[in-house]
Amino acid sequence: MVRASLSSLVLTALLLPSATLGGVVPRAPESFDYVIVGGGAAGSVLASRLSENSGVSVLLLEAGPDNQGVPEGIIPYIYGRNFFSRYDWNYTLVPTPGLNNRQNMPYFKGHVLGGSTAINGMTYTRGPASDWDRIASYLGDSSWTWNNLQNLFKRSEAFEAPPGPPNNRYTPSVHGTTGNIGVSLNLNNPWIVPPTLQAASDVGLPYNQDVNSGNPIGISWQQFAIKNGERSSAAFGYLTAQNAARSNLNVRVNAKATRLIPESGSPLTFKTVEYVDQVTGSTVQVVANREVIVSAGVVETPVLLQKSGLGDAAELQAAGITVRLNIPAVGKNFIEHPGVPLSWSVNTTLTDDEIDRNTNNLFDQELQQWQNSRTGRLAQTSLTHIMYGRIPSNHSIFQTVADPSGGPNAPHYELIVANKWTTQTPRPATGNFIGMTNFVMSSTSAGSIRVNPSNPSGPPLIHTNSLNTAIDRVIMRHALRTAIAYMRSPAWAPFNIQPAFDASVANSDATLDAFIASNAFGGAHGVGTAKIGRANSPAGQDVVGPNFRVKGVQGVRVVDASILPFVPNGHAMVPVYIVAEKAADLIRSGN
Ligand SMILES: Cc1cc2nc3c(=O)[nH]c(=O)nc-3n(C[C@H](O)[C@H](O)[C@H](O)COP(=O)(O)OP(=O)(O)OC[C@H]3O[C@@H](n4cnc5c(N)ncnc54)[C@H](O)[C@@H]3O)c2cc1C
Ligand SMILES: *[C@@H]1O[C@H](CO)[C@@H](O)[C@H](O)[C@H]1NC(C)=O
Ligand SMILES: *[C@@H]1O[C@H](CO)[C@@H](O)[C@H](O)[C@H]1NC(C)=O
Ligand SMILES: *[C@@H]1O[C@H](CO)[C@@H](O)[C@H](O)[C@H]1NC(C)=O
Repeated sequence: MVRASLSSLVLTALLLPSATLGGVVPRAPESFDYVIVGGGAAGSVLASRLSENSGVSVLLLEAGPDNQGVPEGIIPYIYGRNFFSRYDWNYTLVPTPGLNNRQNMPYFKGHVLGGSTAINGMTYTRGPASDWDRIASYLGDSSWTWNNLQNLFKRSEAFEAPPGPPNNRYTPSVHGTTGNIGVSLNLNNPWIVPPTLQAASDVGLPYNQDVNSGNPIGISWQQFAIKNGERSSAAFGYLTAQNAARSNLNVRVNAKATRLIPESGSPLTFKTVEYVDQVTGSTVQVVANREVIVSAGVVETPVLLQKSGLGDAAELQAAGITVRLNIPAVGKNFIEHPGVPLSWSVNTTLTDDEIDRNTNNLFDQELQQWQNSRTGRLAQTSLTHIMYGRIPSNHSIFQTVADPSGGPNAPHYELIVANKWTTQTPRPATGNFIGMTNFVMSSTSAGSIRVNPSNPSGPPLIHTNSLNTAIDRVIMRHALRTAIAYMRSPAWAPFNIQPAFDASVANSDATLDAFIASNAFGGAHGVGTAKIGRANSPAGQDVVGPNFRVKGVQGVRVVDASILPFVPNGHAMVPVYIVAEKAADLIRSGN
C-alpha cells in the first residue's frame, strides 16, 4: 500500500511539469484497426477472431491484470478466492427492497484478463432452444435461432468426454470437441450421485441426459468450463496462445478505458479511446481506424457509454456529463438471477467441508494431487448436478401474468446441489453439510446501472431491483419449497439429513418472502443494459441495432452480456461466447 502510493506520487511529480508545459506538440496517438475495450468473455472472443486475419491490427484493453499462473485463477475448486481480490471489481449493490435493503451486498465482476470467466463458477449452460428462438423472433432475424447457432456453439467448445464409452451422462452429438473452451463433467463425490438423482425424480424433475441439448428441464450432470483439471477461461481459451503467436494482436492489461472521445463535426463519430494505465497512472489515447468495440460487461459497458455522453440525458446532466446523444435505454433493463443458498446437515464425512477445514491435511493432499496430475477434488468444484424446473402451468399467477419464460422447455428456476455448506453465513466449526442454491431464472425484475451523480469517476450505482415482480417472488418461493421437498426425499434419509435453517418459514408465503429477502443475493449473470433491438424500433428503446452498432453513432459497437435483451435461461457465459462469435462473423463479413 505505502509503496504503491509512494511510487504513484513520484510518477505524478514526474508527469506534472510536462503536463503543465504549453506548446508541446503531442505525438500522434497509436492507431489500430480495432480497439476492443474489455478482455472478458466477449472481448477475448472478438480479439481472437478478428486477429485471425494477419492483415488486421487489434488492440485489446483490459482494466485488470493477467492471471496466468495464479493458482486461484487455474485451480477450479478454489475459485472463490478471487472474490474481493485484485481480480474482482469489488462492487456493491444499491440497497433494494427485494433484498431487504441490506447494505454492502457484494456484486462480483471479474477484473482480470478473461473477465468474469476468470473468476466464475464455470457452469457451462447454453440455455433452452426456445429462448434463442425468442431472441430470433424479437429481432426478426432467423440467424439467431437455436438451430442456426449450432455451428457457433460447437466452434466455441472442446467437450472432454469422461473416460470410458459414451454413457447416459451426456449426449456426444450436441457437443463440439475441437473449439476453444474446454468442457467437462465432475465425477468426484460418487456418494452424492444416487440420492441427488433419486430425490429429483421424487419431486417430479425427470432425468435429462444433456442439459445443453436445447431442453434443460429436469436433472442433468452439470458441465463445467474446465479442461484437464484447469479452468478454461476466455483468456486461456481464446487469447493466451494467440497473443503469443500473432504480432497483429496487442493485449494491454491494467489499461482502464475512461471514455470515448468524439470526432469534431457530424455525424457523431467516435474513433479515440482514452484509457488510464493502472500501473503508471498516465492517461493514453489510442485510435481505432475501423471501429471501437465496447465489451466491458453489463456494468462497465453502460458506464463507459454514459461517461462518453451516450445515455439518458437527464441522468448524464445530473452527473455533469456533456450529452452527445440521448439514449435512454443505456443502463436500463438490467436483468439478474437472484439466488438463495440453503444448507442441510448430513452425517457422512464425505462432504467437501472437510477439504475446506483441511481436516487431516485433506486440502494439502488434494493440492498435492492436483499439482502432480491435475486430478482429484480440486480439479472440479463441489457441484455435480443441475436442476431446472417450472412452476405448475395451472398456477394462479398465470391468470394475471404471462409466462415469462421462452416456452414449455424453458425453466423458471434452477437448483444446484453442492457437496458442502452453501449458506453465506460462516460454516459451523463442526459437522457436514450439503447445500442447495436456488435461482429465479426467468427474471422479469429490471434494474439499472448508472454513473453515480455525486461521484461520476467512482463506482457506479448498481441496482438489481431483485424480486420486484410478483411472478419472480412466486418462482423463488416455488424453488425453495421444491428444494425443501427434495431434501425430504427418502433418498437422503440414510444420511440423517436436517435443514440447517428453520424450514417452517416455508409454511406461509409471508414468512417465506421475508426469509428470501433476508437471504437472497443479487446474482452474477446480469444482462440487458445496452440491449439489442430491430433496426427500425422506436428511438431510445434499445441501444444497439442488429449489427451491434450503437444506434445514432458511427464507429462504435457493443458486444457483450449488455446486448442480450433477456438472459437465455441458464448461466450467462456461454450465451456471451455465442453472441461474440456471432458478432465476430458479422464484423469479418463487412457488415
Ligand atoms: C462470481 C461470478 C460467477 C459466475 N458464474 C457463472 C457460471 O458458473 N456460469 C456462467 O455461465 N456464468 C457465470 N457468471 C457470469 C459470466 O461470467 C458472465 O455472464 C460473462 O463473463 C459476461 O461476459 P462479458 O464479456 O459481458 O463480461 P466480463 O466477462 O465480465 O468481461 C468484462 C471485462 O471488461 C473489463 N473492463 C470493464 N471495464 C473496463 C474498462 N473501462 N476498460 C477496460 N476494461 C474494462 C473487465 O475487467 C472484464 O475483464 C458468473 C459471473 C460472476 C461474476
Ligand atoms: C478489491 O478489494 C481487495 C481487498 O480490499 C483489494 O485487495 C483489491 O485490490 C480490490 N480490487 C480492486 C480491483 O481494486
Ligand atoms: C394444478 O394441477 C395439479 C395436478 O394436475 C393439481 O394437483 C393442483 O391442485 C392444481 N392446482 C390448482 C391451483 O388448480
Ligand atoms: C446416519 O444416519 C442414519 C439415519 O439416522 C443412520 O442409519 C446411519 O447409521 C448414520 N450413519 C453414520 C455414519 O452415522
